[in-house]
Amino acid sequence: MKEPSFTLKLLTLALLPFNFASHASDAGRDLFNQSCVACHSVQDNSNISLSQRLEEKAPTLFYAGNKFNAQWLQKWLVAPSNIRSGGHFFLNRVKVTDDGDVIDESAVPQHPAVNAEQAKLLTSYLMQQRPKSELLAREHMTPGKISKTLGDNDFHKFKGCGACHQGGDAYGGVSGPELYTAIDRLQPEYISSYIRSPELWDPKTLMPNRHLNDSSIKKLLDYLNTISLNTQ
Ligand code: HEC
Ligand code: HEC
Repeated sequence: MKEPSFTLKLLTLALLPFNFASHASDAGRDLFNQSCVACHSVQDNSNISLSQRLEEKAPTLFYAGNKFNAQWLQKWLVAPSNIRSGGHFFLNRVKVTDDGDVIDESAVPQHPAVNAEQAKLLTSYLMQQRPKSELLAREHMTPGKISKTLGDNDFHKFKGCGACHQGGDAYGGVSGPELYTAIDRLQPEYISSYIRSPELWDPKTLMPNRHLNDSSIKKLLDYLNTISLNTQ
């Protein structure tokens, strides 16, 4: 871990006045290049090789502006919480025990936090990364509500999403990101587009394309909306 130098850099930046940059996103880019590129890439990942993908230290932020809700992003950067309880490389964190495989929470590092001003600049920069707007333009669903029991059954039993994702009640697999804050965290068009064609977002994703039709996707979107901690 490069924690000490990271903290030092943020400390140094915190002492500088931020009006030196003409535009918030320029300052955000500089901050990103100093504090985040050690782990995150904003480069085009369309032709990424499997070995490059496996060497990634953190999720790509290439299309951050097409993916996140800006409000969530700014808040999360100040007080980050785990999204993948197994970390980005969950296999490194799995402990084999007599009770089956469990995640070694102590092995999941705490995400570095920034101050409020830095979070604003970083959010401004990251929300400008929108290379996949045309994928979002194809989506036209508004998240609605669904009975939680029906939704749970659909998510876990019928569609098998719960094998890799935690849904309502934080129950489910951990090889994918948790989805009980998905509506708070992600743009609804991104959610439906990712469920429709995960490989168009991440060519080496572990998530299978289930070739779901619109009404199946809508049901899942409604479920994620229903279980969202934010809207309940
Ligand atoms: C030491 C490596 C490291 C550094 C430095 C780092 N991150 Fe991360 N970041 C991670 C990992 C690992 C995750 C996945 C955490 C999770 O899913 O719980 C992550 C997750 C994220 C996410 C959520 C991504 C997603 O797709 O869900 C955002 C946004 C983010 N980081 C932004 C930043 C920003 C901005 C900086 C610079 C201030 C930064 N990170 C610095 C390792 C790092
Ligand atoms: C075999 C495991 C697996 C299955 C089954 C699976 N997913 Fe995924 N899913 C993943 C992984 C891995 C990611 C991307 C992880 C990343 O970017 O770090 C993902 C990403 C997502 C995302 C985007 C989340 C984000 O934070 O970027 C959504 C939404 C999603 N899945 C919904 C579903 C739904 C709904 C189903 C059921 C139809 C499903 N998934 C089935 C593994 C799976």
